[in-house]
Amino acid sequence: MAGGEIVFSGMRPTGRLHLGNYWGALKNWVELSRAHTCYFCVVDWHMLTTGYEDTAPLQDNIREMALDWLAAGLDPARCVIFKQSSVAEHAELALLLGMVTPMSWLRNNPTWKDQLQELAKTRVGLSASKPESVRIIPSLGVTSVGSAFVRPEEDEGDVERRLVSSEGNSEGNYGFFGYPVLQAADILLYGGTLIPVGQDQLPHIELAREIARRFNSIYGQVFAEPKPLLTPAPRVQGTDGRKMSKSYGNGIELAEGPESLKAKIMGAYTDPKKIRATDPGHPEPCPENPPGCSIFALHKLYNSDEYGKKGWRARREECMQGRIGCVACKRDLLTHLEGPFRDFREKRESIERRTGEVERIFDEGARRARAVAAETMKRVRRAMRLA
Ligand code: TRP
Repeated sequence: MAGGEIVFSGMRPTGRLHLGNYWGALKNWVELSRAHTCYFCVVDWHMLTTGYEDTAPLQDNIREMALDWLAAGLDPARCVIFKQSSVAEHAELALLLGMVTPMSWLRNNPTWKDQLQELAKTRVGLSASKPESVRIIPSLGVTSVGSAFVRPEEDEGDVERRLVSSEGNSEGNYGFFGYPVLQAADILLYGGTLIPVGQDQLPHIELAREIARRFNSIYGQVFAEPKPLLTPAPRVQGTDGRKMSKSYGNGIELAEGPESLKAKIMGAYTDPKKIRATDPGHPEPCPENPPGCSIFALHKLYNSDEYGKKGWRARREECMQGRIGCVACKRDLLTHLEGPFRDFREKRESIERRTGEVERIFDEGARRARAVAAETMKRVRRAMRLA
């Protein structure tokens, strides 16, 4: 653990991770931790900003995700791995940063607007069976809530009452609104300068910069300004051809067992126009097959230099020339997935067998994180004349 930059990143504990999480984030985290001072945080408080109702699976989800982090190669000897809720300074700093954060910055945050829509779609028990029946609820200032807000048994009056009630409000809660302030606190507590994130997080990092600047201009220089690190991560396609995402249910888990792995691969999206093995296929995204073939996308990752293989080019040629069928191509892919998936599962199981290992890693991480966070908070309190 050394190097010029301080790297901070976090993930909400959603449980087992999928290949998109690995190729899009984790793999890069592992590489960064070889050269920089890195903090990787399970942001369980951020999880609560939307998942506050059902916290029963939270502890399992944290553990499952941590096991995936460790099995993927994050090494507690090279980086600080910890839970946000173990370091109370995150809450203290978020509170204080809130004092200098204009509401308008938060309201204009595109991530907030998007997530608001997502929230509307994914609220428990909602169904789209009454299409378009609620368009405008003026009292809420909601111009289009779409059909996702409506439960089958409800009329519009019920919907409106539910939306204004504390549970089913249309804007999410105070904590959700303050999501980026908490995220800024995460980063600034450790002096994070390099923040590896996906494209969707750029507005949050920008907000963290602005909050840091505003704080510094009022109270004097305390915080370094964080920069996002966008890694040109390959887009990992899900088994239905769309982007791999937990909410689409099209994921392949890192810890996927051999049987379900095989079932998912054999059922995955390829090229709907390639009906017979001899039909010329369209492996890459193109007008004939806009999403591209999800199996080819996996050949490019696992049947490639990364694993000392180069079969993906041959598969592409054979596919385009109608010299291989999708079933054979899928079987071939499985032979390349077997090794990496087996290694991953074995590593994961061996960590799991060591009783108390995950807890020990979190405890040690929290201890190291707290030491740094406490120093930062001293400087913050002094700058604000709180001490
Ligand atoms: N909001 C991030 C996400 O959903 C998670 C996160 C929380 C984070 N705090 C962070 C990422 C700080 C980078 C730095 O992916």
